[in-house]
Amino acid sequence: MQIGTPLSPNATRVMLLGSGELGKEVIIALQRLGVEVIAVDRYKNAPGHQVAHRAYVIDMTDDQALRNLIAQERPHLIVPEIEALNTQTLADIEAAGIATVIPTVKAVQLTMNREGIRRLAAETLKLPTSPYAFAKSEADLQAAIDAGIGYPCFIKPTMSSSGKGQSRITQMSEVKTAWDYAATGGRVNQGVVIVEGQIDFDYEITLLTVRAKNAQGEITTYFCEPIGHVQEKGDYVESWQPQPMATKALEESKRIAKAVTDSLGGLGLFGVELFIKGDQVWFSEVSPRPHDTGMVTMASQRFSEFDLHARAILGLPVDVSLRDAGASAVIYGGHETKQLAFDGVDKALTVPGSDIRLFGKPESFIKRRMGVALATGKDITEARERAKLAASLVKTKVV
Ligand SMILES: Nc1ncnc2c1ncn2[C@@H]1O[C@H](COP(=O)(O)OP(=O)(O)OP(=O)(O)O)[C@@H](O)[C@H]1O
Ligand SMILES: [Mg+2]
Repeated sequence: MQIGTPLSPNATRVMLLGSGELGKEVIIALQRLGVEVIAVDRYKNAPGHQVAHRAYVIDMTDDQALRNLIAQERPHLIVPEIEALNTQTLADIEAAGIATVIPTVKAVQLTMNREGIRRLAAETLKLPTSPYAFAKSEADLQAAIDAGIGYPCFIKPTMSSSGKGQSRITQMSEVKTAWDYAATGGRVNQGVVIVEGQIDFDYEITLLTVRAKNAQGEITTYFCEPIGHVQEKGDYVESWQPQPMATKALEESKRIAKAVTDSLGGLGLFGVELFIKGDQVWFSEVSPRPHDTGMVTMASQRFSEFDLHARAILGLPVDVSLRDAGASAVIYGGHETKQLAFDGVDKALTVPGSDIRLFGKPESFIKRRMGVALATGKDITEARERAKLAASLVKTKVV
């Protein structure tokens, strides 16, 4: 393992495809290791653009645009941060030996579409998941629900994230609205939705799972302490670590996470989303990259999920140990504006154990995530209270 000098011919170059708040932290972690970083996003002044060596705005679903930029920048590693990418282009680039795609092309292709990852988990790996079906029309959807999925159920576009186009319905009269919303709410409207039966879980977790090289250079799987979280309308609002778990449930969670990440392969950190009831565990989905609920690790772990991802992809060893009980709470824009201002950061930072990240997004929406409050505490209860208090003290306004 060798790292060159940034901005020189022997630089170790990493290209981030997607440069939001999670990409920004990965970039900072890479910068600290002397890596030359190229940040790409579909809009100008994205958070990661602001901390990279070079920044580009392109349509990452456009084969030619992506190919040209890779040819120009010659990254050694390509790190997808979002799912809306031309994955065929990435497959060609890797096959031609031009760059390595993190964690693997297969992982990026399967996880960009809920159908790919769900079939892998449930049908190939035989892991427990919610009952599900795919539907190409409203009639198909109704038929799948009637044939056994039942109510309540979740209807989601197969290509979407952060709860976009997603609804939970409890009766037949809601099917049409849910179909319309999902069929048009996806990233790329391809008119396929997944319907999932509701899992009546006690709590849900993200199990950050790292595939990294050990001292002998062998790829080994490491698990961070489980992260508990609260979701509202498919978007996370609060997370904490460590989520207390029954021993059996934790073992089963690790078994599922290992099976999925072994199958996706490569090096890097994955966010494995699981539903837990007693000792029972269901696989929900996986991100082959840092996870939004994992922002808590910036407070709770010796190395954040971003540091771990950076180290793992470079072939460096990782330490996933927890340092303190921690929590995160999201700060929303609250306004539609291109000139958001944050008041009360001073007050928020007087909360013991607290910290704040403001992402620097150039445009705010009411429900856009613009920052996050972090906190440590003697236990997760105290950490959660502190993170929520700190987040509530930050007031957004338009100036
Ligand atoms: N089958 C299900 N049973 C119970 N709850 C569910 C089910 N599907 C989704 N949910 C709830 O909705 C949340 C979001 O679902 P999911 O993770 O599939 O969507 P997403 O759009 O990918 O969200 P994100 O990008 O934030 O992870 C889950 O974390 C869970 O709280
Ligand atoms: Mg999710």
